[in-house]
Amino acid sequence: MKTLLILGAGGHGKVVADCALETGLYHKVAFLDDDAAKVGEIVIDYPVIGKLCNFEKLKGEYDEAFVAIGNNRLRVELVDKLNRFGYNVPCLIHPFSFVSKFSVIECGTVVLAGAVINAGTRVGRGSIINTCSSVDHDCLLSKGVHISPGARVGGTVTVGDYSWICLGSSIANNVHIGENSIIAAGAAVIKDIDNNVLAAGVPAVTKKRLRQ
Ligand SMILES: CC(C)(COP(=O)(O)OP(=O)(O)OC[C@H]1O[C@@H](n2cnc3c(N)ncnc32)[C@H](O)[C@@H]1OP(=O)(O)O)[C@@H](O)C(=O)NCCC(=O)NCCS
Repeated sequence: MKTLLILGAGGHGKVVADCALETGLYHKVAFLDDDAAKVGEIVIDYPVIGKLCNFEKLKGEYDEAFVAIGNNRLRVELVDKLNRFGYNVPCLIHPFSFVSKFSVIECGTVVLAGAVINAGTRVGRGSIINTCSSVDHDCLLSKGVHISPGARVGGTVTVGDYSWICLGSSIANNVHIGENSIIAAGAAVIKDIDNNVLAAGVPAVTKKRLRQ
């Protein structure tokens, strides 16, 4: 059994810790968080032992470290820092998800309860495949992608760096979602979506451009 340091003690941090413990691979977790009010608190039975930057001085005390922060870009930056610093950054797969043995999940990615990832799909580092979402066959999700609870991604879809597919949206097969874009909750995407846009509605249309 291993120990796990989790960067981020918010709601997502809790869910990630729970997932890690459910795998049966970890017997102890601890959190780091930049919210001063959280440091010293107990979050689902485990302590918040310092600020995010404290991962450096804790090197050697934990077997592995994981980033549980919702901001897609920051999450990948921290995964890369942990890797550079020599931490083992796992991918965490909830035991009640299905991940095809013919798929590839890169480090720092969590696949939560009820999620399905089908054959031929690759999920880049630092991504979140959230509760009860699905990513069908032959998709290519780049780094720092978040597929929110209940979202459905059809086969042969590509999603660029840092894009966020919100709650319950559906992406039709063969569609490309650009980098740093947001697909709003409940949208149905049937055509390619540009980089740096928010798209919403059924069928989804671009509502606004986002800062890069
Ligand atoms: C997309 C979202 C984050 C809002 O982003 P935002 O930048 O604050 O968007 P805005 O409020 O500026 O909306 C921009 C436009 O998109 C529309 N829009 C936003 N979300 C929409 C939705 N889900 N469905 C339909 N239209 C939507 C707005 O009505 C607005 O349209 P208008 O310009 O015609 O008035 C939010 O609507 C959403 O979908 N949240 C879900 C988050 C989620 O999945 N959380 C899970 C975390 S685990």
